[in-house]
Amino acid sequence: MQQVQTRVLKVDPLYPDKQAIEIAAEVIKKGGLVVFPTETVYGLGADTFNPEACTKIFKAKNRPMDNPLIVHIHSFDQLFEVAQDISDEILNKLKIVWPGPLTLILKKRPEVPKEVTAGLDTVAVRMPAHPVALELIKTSQTPIAAPSANLATKPSPTLAEHVIEDLYGKVDVILDAGRTFFGVESTIIDVTKNPPVLLRPGPFSVEELKEIFGEIVVPDEARGLGYFKVALAPGMKYKHYAPSKKLIVVEDRSIYREVIDIVSKKYKVAALGTDEMLKEIESTDVIKIRLGSDKNLYEVSKNLFDAFRQLDYSKADIGIIHGFPERGIGLAIMNRTRKASGFSIVRNLDDVKKYIELS
Ligand code: TXA
Ligand code: MG
Repeated sequence: MQQVQTRVLKVDPLYPDKQAIEIAAEVIKKGGLVVFPTETVYGLGADTFNPEACTKIFKAKNRPMDNPLIVHIHSFDQLFEVAQDISDEILNKLKIVWPGPLTLILKKRPEVPKEVTAGLDTVAVRMPAHPVALELIKTSQTPIAAPSANLATKPSPTLAEHVIEDLYGKVDVILDAGRTFFGVESTIIDVTKNPPVLLRPGPFSVEELKEIFGEIVVPDEARGLGYFKVALAPGMKYKHYAPSKKLIVVEDRSIYREVIDIVSKKYKVAALGTDEMLKEIESTDVIKIRLGSDKNLYEVSKNLFDAFRQLDYSKADIGIIHGFPERGIGLAIMNRTRKASGFSIVRNLDDVKKYIELS
């Protein structure tokens, strides 16, 4: 791919610098690529209504063209530019939840190019709760189509450093507003189905969704137990991100320490864990990658993708992470963790041998 000159502009996450936003908005209007922060992860954005610009997103990320993008809007007026046939009931609920880390699958308007939706008759839409994202969309005067700003083989970026590692020389502007707030991608629900179906858990929890939308279907795949069938979740058929190092998830925390002891007799181990779990590990041979504290799972979600990248940079042969309760943000943490492990899920000591050669 042709190299472009990348400008990295620092912006305050809460009070974004007008000049930086204007530079980035000009790039969007001219059909270029801008990486911008959202409350979840960094997005790789282009003008939704410019098919050539959207095609560049796929090239920069190395993303297959049949994996559709999320359209980011800053107002309800923009919602009606991209989606149609939205019932008053859904619209009223959206007024409660947006801006926020919730993406809805809706019926698309014909003006949305096929490049954005991978030829589907639906479109994924969200209004992000991040001042920089909202200002950028508003100043660009167009909805911005954006997947996460990582190479297709890497975890979503939660720091501008991750973006620079993956996309420097492939995008025009990177707006650097520091670490994103939640660290895992938005919750996605398909409201073209009745009851709505959860396609991806995220910061907007199932408990909150049920309060607002009533019944919600939570398939096993949304918990990170196996791949979706294409018909149910188009675009989610691809192999999920997995570190190049082996990663196993010890779901039963009571055997976490023992599993680490057994595996570290033969391999260099990195333990990915909370302070509470890591303090149990005495061996100084084990590399400790801190996820945060069990007292605040939002700290864990914020650090999770960076921890996966750190595992790959480390000298460890194998990463071992423990489970989390599947409540609130915990469901998103488990979904990303199980997928990153390639479903190497350990529930008892015998399971370890299924994934790791020990003898
Ligand atoms: O938090 C987020 O959602 C971030 C930020 C940048 O907004 N975006 C993000 O996009 O994570 P990404 O790379 O995960 O891609 C969008 C996801 C894909 O899994 C895609 O399959 C799904 O949304 N998607 C998009 N349009 C869809 C549609 N019409 N039907 C079903 N799934 C769809
Ligand atoms: Mg992504």
